[in-house]
Formats: sequence, C-alpha cells, structure tokens
Amino acid sequence: MSYWIDTHCHMNEDVYRSDFDLYMQAARDNNVLRSNVICMNRADLEYTRELKKKYPNLDITFGYFPEDTEHLNDEDMNYLEAVIDEIQAVGEIGLDYYYSREDADRQKEMFIRQIEIANRHGKPIMIHSRSAAQDTFDILKKHARTKVVMHCFSESAEMMREYLKLGYYISFAGVVTFKNAKTPKENALECPIERMMIETDCPYLTPVPFRGKMNQTAYVRHTGEYIAQLKGISVEQLQQQLIRNYDEWR
Ligand code: NI
Repeated sequence: MSYWIDTHCHMNEDVYRSDFDLYMQAARDNNVLRSNVICMNRADLEYTRELKKKYPNLDITFGYFPEDTEHLNDEDMNYLEAVIDEIQAVGEIGLDYYYSREDADRQKEMFIRQIEIANRHGKPIMIHSRSAAQDTFDILKKHARTKVVMHCFSESAEMMREYLKLGYYISFAGVVTFKNAKTPKENALECPIERMMIETDCPYLTPVPFRGKMNQTAYVRHTGEYIAQLKGISVEQLQQQLIRNYDEWR
C-alpha cells in the first residue's frame, strides 16, 4: 500500500481544534494516512494523546523547543523521560538564534540534555535549527547517538552533505514548491530519496497551490508530488521509499 506520511506537523494547535474531524477527513481524501504531531509541552502532549485515541494514525513526538527553554527545569526533563515510551521521537529540539543569541548557552545546554535522554532510551531525534547551523552541527556530531532527522531543512547544500555523511535524514517542507526557493529545490534534487522525508510543519509554510492559505497535514501531498516530479520518479516510488525511511528512523 502506498500513501503519504507527514513527518512533522502541528495539528494539535488551536486553529484546528473545532474542525479537527474535517482536517482528518481531508488527510484521508489526499491519501495522507500518517501524521507525526509535534508536542512542545505537557498541555500539547495531553491534548494530542486524546486526539490519538480517536485517530491512531497520529504519531506523537515530544520535546522542548529551543526558544522555550528559558524556564525549563529538572522537573521538565524528568517529565520527558517519564513519557518517553509513548513517543516516537524526541523533538523538535535544537537551536534557534533567529531573534536573539542572548540565550544561546541555555539553548545549547537544554538541547544536549534532551539528546542525552534520547540516547539513554534509544529514541530518534527531530532537529529544529535556525540561524544556528554550525552550533547545531557541532552538538549533533558530538552528542547524537540515535537516528536524526533535520526538520524543515533550509541550510546550504554543503551542510546537507555533512549531515548526509553522518547518515541523517533531511526533511523538506512546502518551501520547496515556492517559485523563488532556489536552494531548497537544489537540495531536494540532490538529496537521495533514501535519506529524505517530507512534512508540512503546518500551520506554516503552505505549499503551492495553497500558498497564502493556512496549511494542514493533507497538503503534504503537494510537496510530495512536487518532489516526485522534480526527481523524475513516480509518486508511488517516492511514497514507498518515504514509508521505509520513516519506519527506519523511528
Ligand atoms: Ni515545527
């Protein structure tokens, strides 16, 4: 069986809450049969658990987002460790210096602590990195001992090659479908499909032809179809490989 997987989405956000069943129907209608929902705090996790009771095709990934790490304490880390058996992966974790580098040390410390928890439990990790390419790379290379996916990859081809050398997966979002997204397109063309994932990161980064509207997990289909066309392979061939990749990663 062949279908799309959205490897990174925020379908647990408030904007989806009142019409959640309709969004899940849209996903089915677009052959998006698995969606990995990112939880950034306890409230997210508790709500997403409830969603999963009705929709077992939702996977749960949990981790503390770099810009939220300021107030984290030991108790939060213990919580992550306590729920580790029910989650697919630890994420999205990483570094984000886009708005400020002021808390870079704090971000790094919390990033490393979460990687170490993942290491202890053999859990894969999902990485968020923005305006922090070198620090992210250095920390991962030194500390990561489980499987890694670089979520919404938006760095240079050189960085992508370094991550590929380490055996990491590269995840592409709707940005590749944007007309002016030269580097993401080139990266998607170069990245072997054996190391690729696709995602929506919804509600952001809506792919063409819905660019400008709110994103949703069903739209991963458009990113997938675009990449299949870009690489000159069939949709089914790409889907089969992406299913294998996701299964090998988690
Ligand atoms: Ni995200």
